[in-house]
Amino acid sequence: MEESSSKTNPTQDNLNLSNLDLSVLFFAIKKNLKKASLVVKSIECIRLIFALKTKSVASWFSNINYLIEKTMKTLVTGAAGFIGYHLTKKLITNGIKVLGIDNFNEYYDPKLKQSRYENLKKIANNFGVDFLIKNVSIEDYSKLKLIAEEFQPKRVVNLAAQAGVRYSIENPSSYVQSNLVGFGNILEICRSLKVENLLYASSSSVYGGNTKTPFKETDSVDHPISLYAASKKANELMAHTYSHLYGLPAIGLRLFTVYGPWGRPDMALFKFTKSIIAGEPIEVYNYGEMKRDFTYIDDTIECIYRLLNKPACLDKSFDSKHPNPSRSWSPHMVFNIGNSQPTKLISFIEAIESELNIKAIKKLIKIQPGDVNTTYADTSLLESWINYKPSTHIEEGIEKFTKWYLSYYR
Ligand SMILES: NC(=O)c1ccc[n+]([C@@H]2O[C@H](COP(=O)([O-])OP(=O)(O)OC[C@H]3O[C@@H](n4cnc5c(N)ncnc54)[C@H](O)[C@@H]3O)[C@@H](O)[C@H]2O)c1
Repeated sequence: MEESSSKTNPTQDNLNLSNLDLSVLFFAIKKNLKKASLVVKSIECIRLIFALKTKSVASWFSNINYLIEKTMKTLVTGAAGFIGYHLTKKLITNGIKVLGIDNFNEYYDPKLKQSRYENLKKIANNFGVDFLIKNVSIEDYSKLKLIAEEFQPKRVVNLAAQAGVRYSIENPSSYVQSNLVGFGNILEICRSLKVENLLYASSSSVYGGNTKTPFKETDSVDHPISLYAASKKANELMAHTYSHLYGLPAIGLRLFTVYGPWGRPDMALFKFTKSIIAGEPIEVYNYGEMKRDFTYIDDTIECIYRLLNKPACLDKSFDSKHPNPSRSWSPHMVFNIGNSQPTKLISFIEAIESELNIKAIKKLIKIQPGDVNTTYADTSLLESWINYKPSTHIEEGIEKFTKWYLSYYR
């Protein structure tokens, strides 16, 4: 899309630290990525206080910032998408250098993707951080490789994918390209650049035909009921293989119906809000009886952010005679990211009606092919790993979404 302004990096000439100081500092930061964002913030504050007082202190801190930036450089694919936008915003506002990749495709209104990008550029500018999104498809290996080699990310978050269960019933081939070929390319990039942490979007849809709830990472996920779900399960298998063969630390994010401001126009909350305001009928699948574990975007981003600072590790007690599907002898893990509070579709619609103060015209219809009846995340594994659990109430999340929707489309 557009080139970043080049920022001058500090060189050895203007360092006031000895090589020993630098290597100790570098090692401490690398070993302590969990606290690194806190370090960034603290350093930023101290730097502001001292910068004007002593020129050498200011330059000392700018070098520390440079080192932190180097260890945390993050490549985010799908950065102009719903989740990619929010994650990129969080990273930028924490002083982390991000390069985005997105092909701005027309699966839904590209103007919304462009607006997210414009917003991100403004935020980056305010924070004095370099940021751009390259308009590239992850299927294009040679371009992807060039860009990644130039940026040298330490961490990669792959959110670019053809999303949506229903669309996969009519358009299976786009899922093969983005989700399989594209993800294969991401893995190759991570291998060749020795990336220290890969996070990639999987989905709650991998639980497929399972009816035992809540869904646990230890459950079998061998019965997908859409090509979308199968592509996400395939991603988990591909990532595990790279983790085993090349030691790539990788985490699969099994996301459960993420919603919130700047959300996706093909998803229920957006579609319902738009139709209810326009006085048009809404289609209510499975006669309103299906349940979804709606997960608020800010909770989702907090989880991803914490996982970025805590890469997967291998399970020393892994028993290959009784393999636990959620763990491995390799540094590969999968986590449910859900709210653990499934909501009936009809109650979800009532909450939107009450927020908008408009009654919906409901057309009750049967469950659609590829759809599952209930999604419900067990998040105990996630909680034990990052000490955090999504918990935003659906009413609160819907209120924030409708406020954003009304201001964006006013
Ligand atoms: N939102 C949810 O509820 C949810 C649930 C489960 C899984 N996921 C997964 O999370 C990820 C992000 O979802 P989202 O809701 O932000 O979707 P989104 O469609 O808003 O974001 C995906 C972004 O990736 C880009 N993209 C798509 N294919 C690409 C390609 N081949 N190359 C480069 N860019 C490409 C799109 O232009 C888009 O901006 C996806 O992988 C999705 O499957 C989302």
